[in-house]
Amino acid sequence: MSKAPARIRKAVFPVAGLGTRFLPATKAMPKEMLTVVDRPVIQHVVDEARAAGIEHLVFVTGRNKGVIEDHFDQQFELERTLAERGKDKELAALRRDLPAPGQTSFTRQQAAQGLGHAVWCARDIVGNEPFALLLPDMLHFSAVPCLAKMMAAYEDVGGNLVAVSPVPEDQTQNYGIVGVRDPEDDVTEITTMVEKPKPGTAPSNLHITGRYILQPEIFELLERQKPGAGNEIQLTDAMLGLLERRDQDFHAVRFDGELYDCGSKLGFLMANVAYGLTREDLGEPFRAALSKVVGKLG
Ligand code: G1P
Repeated sequence: MSKAPARIRKAVFPVAGLGTRFLPATKAMPKEMLTVVDRPVIQHVVDEARAAGIEHLVFVTGRNKGVIEDHFDQQFELERTLAERGKDKELAALRRDLPAPGQTSFTRQQAAQGLGHAVWCARDIVGNEPFALLLPDMLHFSAVPCLAKMMAAYEDVGGNLVAVSPVPEDQTQNYGIVGVRDPEDDVTEITTMVEKPKPGTAPSNLHITGRYILQPEIFELLERQKPGAGNEIQLTDAMLGLLERRDQDFHAVRFDGELYDCGSKLGFLMANVAYGLTREDLGEPFRAALSKVVGKLG
């Protein structure tokens, strides 16, 4: 590359989904606010973005999601109470997590028309610059945060990047699947992609895990994108359109950690176990308590 690629400053978080799989927990509370140990799922994903150097957080919300906005705001009364009670550690932790003033934006996806449509709703806030996209259901658990690894790859190759990891053949129809030049490589060119391929037709077993770095031209394609799988406007279809223009690079970056799909009950429970077991302040007693429970009921 002749010049360094434009810096990624903004990250988009589509948080408009209804969370019907978690009813009744999500009757009055957004699914993104369910907690993995003591942090809401969305906070874990924002942590990943901030660890990768993201400065501006763009949330695409929907009805009943106001509490997400409150979560990323300063809670003045709470802070004052903590200060009065000498709870300095808790106060410092809250302040560490708080985004800087002016560094959050919220827009609404007014109708559930798919992930592609949700991303398109962020076009004016993102503007004409490359951006990161993180799907909050998918917790990426690893020593080096997934988006940070992608940022490092982006410095080298620029263009568009998608995190991928292998899935069993019989699960390819549940995801976006990419075809790549060198399936064994950590960072490799994408040759094709398809959203939820019919069984037996997937170009590989590498699925899109929910972390992206995208160039702003994706918005032009999303604007014209016809509904695809599930009769929804699919991001993968628009990315394929951009790939086929052949004027921008598309690379897959392999994610080597553990994935927890917090959109599913099992994934959510597993995430709580994994994050609980690896917490410095909790790991040991949790491990002992957990094996007792498993011993009794397992
Ligand atoms: C979305 C994307 C898909 C990706 C998946 C990861 O699908 O469209 O390409 O593989 O997230 O979780 P959804 O889970 O919304 O059906």
